[in-house]
Amino acid sequence: MLYLIGLGIYDELDITLRALEILKDVERVYVEFYTNASNVNLKNLEKLLGKKIYVLDRHDLEEHPEENILRDSMKKKTALLVPGDPMVATTHMDIILRARKLGIKTKVIHASSIYSAVAETGLQIYKFGKTTSIPFPDKSYFPTSPYDVLRENLKNDLHTLFLLDIKPEENRFMSVNDAIEILLRIEETKKENIFTKEILCVGVARLGNNSVIRFGRVMDLVNYNFGKPPHVLIAPGKLHFMEEEMLKAFTHP
Ligand SMILES: C[S@@+](CC[C@H](N)C(=O)[O-])C[C@H]1O[C@@H](n2cnc3c(N)ncnc32)[C@H](O)[C@@H]1O
Repeated sequence: MLYLIGLGIYDELDITLRALEILKDVERVYVEFYTNASNVNLKNLEKLLGKKIYVLDRHDLEEHPEENILRDSMKKKTALLVPGDPMVATTHMDIILRARKLGIKTKVIHASSIYSAVAETGLQIYKFGKTTSIPFPDKSYFPTSPYDVLRENLKNDLHTLFLLDIKPEENRFMSVNDAIEILLRIEETKKENIFTKEILCVGVARLGNNSVIRFGRVMDLVNYNFGKPPHVLIAPGKLHFMEEEMLKAFTHP
């Protein structure tokens, strides 16, 4: 049996009572931290569960799950703990598909997720269009797809959520400031006046606890210190008056 259990949006205190109840019976517990810049403290989590937790990296989980969670869940109750909600990451979907092929039963325990928490900004969740991720560019890789998604969402008056890249193995976590600079660089080449210094955006850090939300012009937000990760950037589409009212509380400067 394989349980995919969400740890929730911020740290170990966001785990659900349902998850704790199930984990009492689980014989082997794994966790992955590479899909989010999680603030979960592993020692505290182990204390809370009274069990040893084994950390898996991207390589373990995406290339060799048959050597860890799939192998174990064939014989015993096994859990994979993941930041946020387990179903908000394609990796976990892949694990479920692989488990099913091996005849392993799976159960998902949901938890709070960035996908619903962004509504704390006041932007209505059903008015978001396609989400896009901004990867760290390098010399040979500078995708413009986040800009293209923004263009399509704006055409439909929809908000755009930019998830920001993390590379925990290199201790690199993209900030709102990095994301803005990347989008401004794309604007410089494409020149479609979609992401200019004057447009209004929402910069968000650490939803769930110690959160920071700032609404303002790109040129003002780019120099603001949002603090520790994780961060997201949102480019609003057409605003409803209630959204405008909610955003006022976060106006910057
Ligand atoms: C690939 S998504 C994984 C989402 C996770 N499975 C969930 O359900 O929340 C990770 C990205 O979401 C954003 N994110 C996640 N949690 C956040 C939080 N508490 N505050 C701000 N951004 C967050 C960051 O951009 C981070 O790099």
